[in-house]
Amino acid sequence: MKFFVDSADVAEIRDLATTGLVDGVTTNPSLVAKSGRKFFDVLAEICAAVEGPVSAEVTATDADAMVAEGRTLAKLAANIAVKVPLTWDGLKACRALAQAGTKVNVTLCFSANQAILAAKAGAAFISPFVGRLDDVGEDGMDLIRDIRTIYDNYERFTTEILVASIRHPRHVTDAAKIGADVCTVPPDVLRKLAQHPLTDRGLDAFLADWKKTGQSILKA
Ligand code: E4P
Repeated sequence: MKFFVDSADVAEIRDLATTGLVDGVTTNPSLVAKSGRKFFDVLAEICAAVEGPVSAEVTATDADAMVAEGRTLAKLAANIAVKVPLTWDGLKACRALAQAGTKVNVTLCFSANQAILAAKAGAAFISPFVGRLDDVGEDGMDLIRDIRTIYDNYERFTTEILVASIRHPRHVTDAAKIGADVCTVPPDVLRKLAQHPLTDRGLDAFLADWKKTGQSILKA
């Protein structure tokens, strides 16, 4: 499973990238607004910080304008993936950009049928939003399961399932069990994946016992 960082906070992304665990980044207009910075500056810095795809979202709503914005975004760096919303115009733009060789991430997916359309339109990634489905009383992971089953039924569907709107570590475990290709994870949730209270308790006990020996590994 690949991990993308779902953030426009360049310092956070750089710090997490030093682990070697970050395979890409996703941004969206809300995350860019939260950063308080210029979109293109943020994108240039993120694209230099990670090798993998960096999703940059268009803000136009008609297909031709989305394609024009997508082309502009794609020129910023070789690892830009253009993000378009799962609307009829978004699907048209996806087709045009994909045919021109640009990676497209189709976002705001909330149904299996939408995911089928994105795959047929040539999307490199489909982004189903699990947390937002959970918020309205549905089970977001049911959608990931459905999309996995459908994509596996058709060899020509090579679109990667990018699980988005992740809110807690359980979402990551469940997505991995289903066989999703990518999880885009907010920085705080990514850090939580390494945490376990028994790890902390065990380490405290080992260090306390080691101290009693009076030894030092570097001064042996
Ligand atoms: C995905 O690309 C989106 O940026 C993101 O996962 C949305 O998550 P949210 O529902 O927490 O805003």
